[in-house]
Amino acid sequence: MYTNELDALKRENDAVVLAHYYVDAEVQAAADFIGDSFFLAKKATTIPQSTIVMAGVNFMGETMKILNPDKTVYLPDAEADCPMAHMVTVDAIRAMRDKYDDLAVICYVNSTAEIKAHSDYCCTSSNAEKIVASVPETHIFFVPDQNLGQYIAAKFPEKQFHFHEGFCPVHHRIRAEQIAQLKKNHPDAAIFAHPECRPEVLVLADYKGSTSGILDAVGERDRAVNIIVTEGGIAAELEKRYPEKTFVFPEMLCEGMKRVNLKGIIRALREGGDGIAIDPELARRAKRPLDRMLEITAK
Ligand code: 13P
Ligand code: SF4
Repeated sequence: MYTNELDALKRENDAVVLAHYYVDAEVQAAADFIGDSFFLAKKATTIPQSTIVMAGVNFMGETMKILNPDKTVYLPDAEADCPMAHMVTVDAIRAMRDKYDDLAVICYVNSTAEIKAHSDYCCTSSNAEKIVASVPETHIFFVPDQNLGQYIAAKFPEKQFHFHEGFCPVHHRIRAEQIAQLKKNHPDAAIFAHPECRPEVLVLADYKGSTSGILDAVGERDRAVNIIVTEGGIAAELEKRYPEKTFVFPEMLCEGMKRVNLKGIIRALREGGDGIAIDPELARRAKRPLDRMLEITAK
């Protein structure tokens, strides 16, 4: 219904639409590129267009703006937010820096520009292991997601991890008993879980990884039924790639992602304006850990 108008607005604004796998299927269908947070951040640094519409939550739009200060970045809904991104404070980072000299602060990309500006490295769920492996410091303060932090820490017994108590409200509320019950109902199913889930959920999973990782892993396993423990928006891409397979989800919906719709994308492009604005000095400091992430993952 909006396709012609959207195409015309994209041409007029020299714009591209990027969408995360968690937004509604019709938004994903209208996007030029769909991906997980790492893919989208990296993609944004290579596109020729001068304007990016980030169909996702606030920290994703901020990340695109920090990485591309000369581009205009629009969020279709300014209220689309990730609660976890606000769970850690700069004071918590300062306190940890005062305590340990040999410390690296690694912030999950689901964090504010201010937190990125106070961090040494940034990571996403798809590259956290590679980032930690490249960090020389012994002490690691991993913020804000306790579950992703603990999942990665288990792979590095030689490091001393310090966790923050942040969590994703969507993934953290899923309990092991719910997943065990789904497995009981579908005994031949494989379980795929995002590392933002609790450790006791992750031990039940056959595969643990980012949204892109889950999408690929489903194709690598020959199972008719697949239990997917991440946000339900990923169903659109799973069904597109694997029409012959069945997917079972616990109820997991991210309110922020669900605020994004085609109307909002059209409105952003029609109204125009400067888009996301970040203080230039803050953006410069926040870019450093993101650039490091891109450098390390490019090796
Ligand atoms: P991905 O890194 O898999 O895109 O996850 C982002 C996210 O917000 C998960 O809740
Ligand atoms: Fe944030 Fe969780 Fe939503 Fe991802 S699913 S954007 S971590 S609230």
